[in-house]
Amino acid sequence: MFFGGTGDLAYRKLYPSLFNLYKKGNLRTHFAVLGTSRQTMTDDKFRAAIKKSLADSGNRADSKEASDFISHFYYQAHDVTDTAHYSVLKDAAEKLDKKYKLQGNRIFYLSMAPQFFGTIAQDLKTQGLMSTNKDAFNRLVIEKPFGRDYDSAKQLNDALSKSFEEEQIFRIDHYLGKEMIQNIEALRFGNTLVESLWNNRYIDNIQVTLSEKLGVEERASYYDNSGALRDMVQNHIMQIVSLLAMEQPVAFTDTDIRAEKVKALRSLRVYNVADAATNFVRGQYGAIDNQPDYRHEDNVPHDSTTETFVAGKLLFDNYRWSGTPFYVRTGKMLADKFTRVDVVFKKPLVDIFAFPQSQSTPLAANVLTIFVEPHAGFSLQLNAKTADAGFQTEPIKLDYMVDAAKSAETPEPYERLLHDVLKGDGTNFSSWPEVSYAWKFVDQIRRVWDLQEPQFPNYTPHSMGPAAAEELIQRDHREWIYRLNK
Ligand code: BG6
Repeated sequence: MFFGGTGDLAYRKLYPSLFNLYKKGNLRTHFAVLGTSRQTMTDDKFRAAIKKSLADSGNRADSKEASDFISHFYYQAHDVTDTAHYSVLKDAAEKLDKKYKLQGNRIFYLSMAPQFFGTIAQDLKTQGLMSTNKDAFNRLVIEKPFGRDYDSAKQLNDALSKSFEEEQIFRIDHYLGKEMIQNIEALRFGNTLVESLWNNRYIDNIQVTLSEKLGVEERASYYDNSGALRDMVQNHIMQIVSLLAMEQPVAFTDTDIRAEKVKALRSLRVYNVADAATNFVRGQYGAIDNQPDYRHEDNVPHDSTTETFVAGKLLFDNYRWSGTPFYVRTGKMLADKFTRVDVVFKKPLVDIFAFPQSQSTPLAANVLTIFVEPHAGFSLQLNAKTADAGFQTEPIKLDYMVDAAKSAETPEPYERLLHDVLKGDGTNFSSWPEVSYAWKFVDQIRRVWDLQEPQFPNYTPHSMGPAAAEELIQRDHREWIYRLNK
């Protein structure tokens, strides 16, 4: 059942992803999709919209397969704030349950404004939409934002947990559905070479960059109330960092993985006021050519102090990571659209090639780069001898890029995540403890920022952010591995 079933996300991502699952045989006969929103619409009109959504996402929407798939779609107008009206949804769900022999299994996908999550969850339970068949499942899928700070997130979670158990709640973080983010576990725990060096003895620092080329586009009314810290750091970046920082799980199961991620987040140092002020910097983009500055984008107040860029340093107080910082940065209107992780190893303690008459350049640090997007792959920078008669060293790269044909076959994040919900596998979703530790960390930074008027705008579009982001890392005698023109 999709609440917000006529929304942009549903048409653009969710229904095409369901169709991919259908084409691969992961959904066949025993399923029905009930779309709901305030809009009145017949089943036929809804199906026509689904057909368009499939066509828009590059499918042959007039094929028999597509029309068979679309025949499983139904529509029921519904006002989520009207408790009495849930009985209509209940009747519709029960009819579909009988028709498609669903045995009471229900998935409720809330693709709508989070202020309604609590009410909907409550009414689903009190109005009898949740299946009472003890062999059946009830699953709730929600999209971020999960609150705007720890207190509101807790309130939301308390409301949800009156109706759903933690293991029934699937909090989507679409970064966890990305191929190379999932590959972090394979890379770390499938390779002695990697995991045995994965600690503060050998790693100098880790850098996570989520760079976006576009500005705020048409999402200002949401974004201006959020900002980059809440929009990207609290969720996506914290999830990536916890996968990089966690200990090896006992087994590759959702419970074991989540337990390790939570443990890692528990040892993340929550900053005091002074440290929050020095270890995190923010930015807002200025104007260039025809591109207005952030404050002159549609629906942005001219005095907005919302940050469109964040860079920061995270420190874990545990045996594995003490002394090895994680630097993170993300922003809109930057040089390019990409996501990457750079793991920078310590240099050899002694550079025996650096004798005075040597022509060699000093040894470079080994760097393992995980390219998440747009191209998926790894690259390992090592030092090697130049292939010539003399003896000089130079950095060389061992590259592995997922080939284009394979990349085209890898499922989109939403397809993977919907498949996981159908299977009941919570590995790639954010658990409440993870969300809550992430908020506690982020809240401290927000608190400090809210006390000071920022000097915005402070970075040029198509750059890699404000000078403060360079200073942040240079202060520690380090530099960002990804730099412009490199
Ligand atoms: C979303 C944010 O969660 O992630 C957006 O709300 C951002 O502001 C988007 O643009 C980035 O996702 P991706 O997959 O394009 O890197």
